[in-house]
Amino acid sequence: MSTVNKTAHAFDKARLDALLNRRFFYAPAFEIYGGVAGLYDYGPPGSSLQANIISEWRRHFIVEESMLELDTTIMTPAPVFESSGHVARFADWMVKDSGNGEVLRADHLVKNVLEARLEGDREARGAAPVAAAADEKKKKKKQAKSTAVKLDDAVVAEYESILAQLDNYTGPELGGLMRTHTITNPSSGNPVGEPQQFNLMFASSIGPTGQHPGFLRPETAQGHFLNFSRLLEFNNGRVPFASAQVGRAFRNEISPRAGLIRVREFTMAEIEHFVDPLDKSHPRFAEVADVELVLLDKYVQAAGQSTTRVMTVGAAVADGVIANETLGYFVARIYAFLLHIGIDPARLRFRQHMANEMAHYAADCWDAEIQNSVGGWTECVGCADRAAYDLSVHAAATKQSLVVREALKEPVVEERAVAEWDKKALGKAFKGDAGAVTSAVEALDEAGLMRLKGELAQGSATIKTAAGKEFTLEPTMLAIERKTFKTFVREYVPNVIEPSFGVGRILYCLLEHSFWSREQDVDRGVLSLPAVVAPTKVLIVPLSARAEFDPLVKEVSLRLRKAGVHARVDDSNTSIGKRYSRNDELGTPFGVTLDFASVQNRTMTLRERDTMDQRIGAIDDVLGAVVALVQGAITWEEACARLPRYDGVQAVE
Ligand code: ATP
Ligand code: GLY
Repeated sequence: MSTVNKTAHAFDKARLDALLNRRFFYAPAFEIYGGVAGLYDYGPPGSSLQANIISEWRRHFIVEESMLELDTTIMTPAPVFESSGHVARFADWMVKDSGNGEVLRADHLVKNVLEARLEGDREARGAAPVAAAADEKKKKKKQAKSTAVKLDDAVVAEYESILAQLDNYTGPELGGLMRTHTITNPSSGNPVGEPQQFNLMFASSIGPTGQHPGFLRPETAQGHFLNFSRLLEFNNGRVPFASAQVGRAFRNEISPRAGLIRVREFTMAEIEHFVDPLDKSHPRFAEVADVELVLLDKYVQAAGQSTTRVMTVGAAVADGVIANETLGYFVARIYAFLLHIGIDPARLRFRQHMANEMAHYAADCWDAEIQNSVGGWTECVGCADRAAYDLSVHAAATKQSLVVREALKEPVVEERAVAEWDKKALGKAFKGDAGAVTSAVEALDEAGLMRLKGELAQGSATIKTAAGKEFTLEPTMLAIERKTFKTFVREYVPNVIEPSFGVGRILYCLLEHSFWSREQDVDRGVLSLPAVVAPTKVLIVPLSARAEFDPLVKEVSLRLRKAGVHARVDDSNTSIGKRYSRNDELGTPFGVTLDFASVQNRTMTLRERDTMDQRIGAIDDVLGAVVALVQGAITWEEACARLPRYDGVQAVE
C-alpha cells in the first residue's frame, strides 16, 4: 500500500474556497441579486455532507442515548423570549465608525487590531507567521493596515493577556480598551464610538393585526423547555432524560464576514438533558472516564494565558475542573462525535467560559473549539449547565408547574410551625383585609412564625401585609403550633445540561481539516472526508461509453443502491484519471472501475481516494468489500488483505 503525505503543501485557503465554490458545496444566497452577508445556500455535495453529519449525530446521540426527539416551531411569540431573558440580554456589543457609520462588533474589532499588531511585531522580529493561520493573518493585517512594527515586550505581553480574556470583557470595558490602545476602524482609520448593545434576534409579528410580536428563534432550546411536562410524561415521569432537536436558528449577527463560521441563519443540533440537581452523576460515566481531552480552563484564561493541559475526563471531574459527571460525560461524547466525523484531534480543544462570558442562563460551560484559518480557535459546540434557570422562569411566567414529582421510598418527617386561624374572629376584625393578613402570616418562615408566637403570648402582635399596611393580631384570631408533617413526594425543578452544536461551523472546519493537494496535482485538491459523511461513497467509472458496458454499470449501481450505499456513475467523456480527481475533490472515498476485463471475466477494480491504491477482484468480492468499507465494518488494510493489488495498465479498446 502507498503512504500519503497530506502535508506536502501548506494549507491554502484560496484553493479550498475555489474548490468549494466550483463544486457548489455552498454559495452566497441570493447571489444574482448581489447576495446578503451571512446567508448561504448549500449545493448538492454541501447538502449531502450536512445531511450525513446530522445523520451521524442522530445515531451518536439520539439512538445511542435513547433521547426523545422534537421538532418545534421557529416562529416564537415574544413573551417566551421575554421570560427566557433573550429580549433583555441576547445581545452583542457593537461600535459605529464616527465618520462613515460602518458598524463593527466591538470584541472582534479589538481582536483583529491587536492580532494584526502582534503579527506586525512578529514580522519585525523576523519570525514566520503561525503556519495554519498565515492566510487569515495576512487578511487581518490588510484590514488593520498595520505594518511590521516592533512592539515593546511589555506591550506584547499586555496584548496577549487581553486576547486571552477577550470574551470576559463587558461593553464599557471594551470601550476602555479601544481608548487606551487607540483602536480605530482599520478599513477607514476613523475612531469608533462607545460600544452599544445590539439584540441579535430577528423581530417579527404573528397574525394580521400586528398585536402579537414574535421572534425567529436564536436557539432551539426554548422549544424543549416549553414541552417539558409532555416530555416528562412521555418518559413515565422519570428523570434523567434528554430531548434532542435539529433545526434552524436565526441571529442578526452584527457584521458577518467569516463564511459559514458566522451566518445569520444556521442549523443547530441541540440536546437538553434534564437531571436531578442533587445528583448529577451519570450512569455511563465510567465508559468515558479515561478519555483524554485538551482543556483550557477559566483560571488560566483569567490569568491572561492560553496554556492548555491534557486531562482525562475522570480526573477533570474528580478535581472539580469540570463541574459534574453529566457535563463531563457530554464533553467526552462531543469529542468522540467530532473525531468520528473526521475533525483533526490536534485542532480540537475544550475551553471553559469565564464568569462574565457565560450566557445569562449558564452555571458552567465548556466550548468545543476547533481551529480553522478563518476564526482561529472557534466555538463549534457549546456544552452548558443551564441549572434550573429556564424551567423556573417559564414556570413563574405561566404559573404552570414545571417540576418533577418523585415518590419517596421513605417519607420525610418534619416538624414545623403553622398558623391555625379562627376565621370568624379574623373576618370580624379585618373584613376585606383578612386575605392579605393570612397571606402575610403564611409567607413567614419558621423564625418569623416563632417570633409571632412569642408576641401573641405577650398579648398581641403586629404584621405587615405585602401592600405595606400594618395590622394588630390577637390570640383570639390565631394560634401558632408546631406540627409533624410526613411528605411522600419530593418535588424539584430539574437542572439542564445542554450540548449545542452549530452544524455549519463543524462542516466548514471539517472541510478545512480534510483538504489537501497531491504533489503531482496541486491545483486539484482532495477532500479526505471519512466515508460515513462523504456526500457520495462510491464512484462507478465505466472505462468506455460503449453499450456493452451498460448492463454491468446498471447491475453494480443497483446492487450498491440495494445495499444502501450512495453511488454515482461518472460516464463522462474524459480520462479515468480526470474522473477520479474530480471526485477526489468531492471527497468520494472509493471508486470502482469497469473495463473490458469486467465485461469478459466479471472482475472489477477498486480504488481508494487518499492512497490511490487499486485492488482487483470478482465483482461480487469487490462489492462485498466496498459495502463493508463504507459501513465502517472493515478498514482499507483489511480490504487489501481480501483483494489482490491491481498493477495492470487499464485495458484499452
Ligand atoms: P459566538 O461567540 O461565536 O457568537 P455564541 O457563543 O453566541 O457564539 P452559542 O450561543 O453558544 O454561540 O451557540 C451555540 C452554537 O451555535 C455555537 O457553538 C456555534 O456552533 C453555533 N453558532 C452560534 N452562532 C452562530 C453563527 N452566527 N453562525 C454559525 N453558527 C453559529
Ligand atoms: N442553546 C444554546 C445557545 O444557543 O447558545
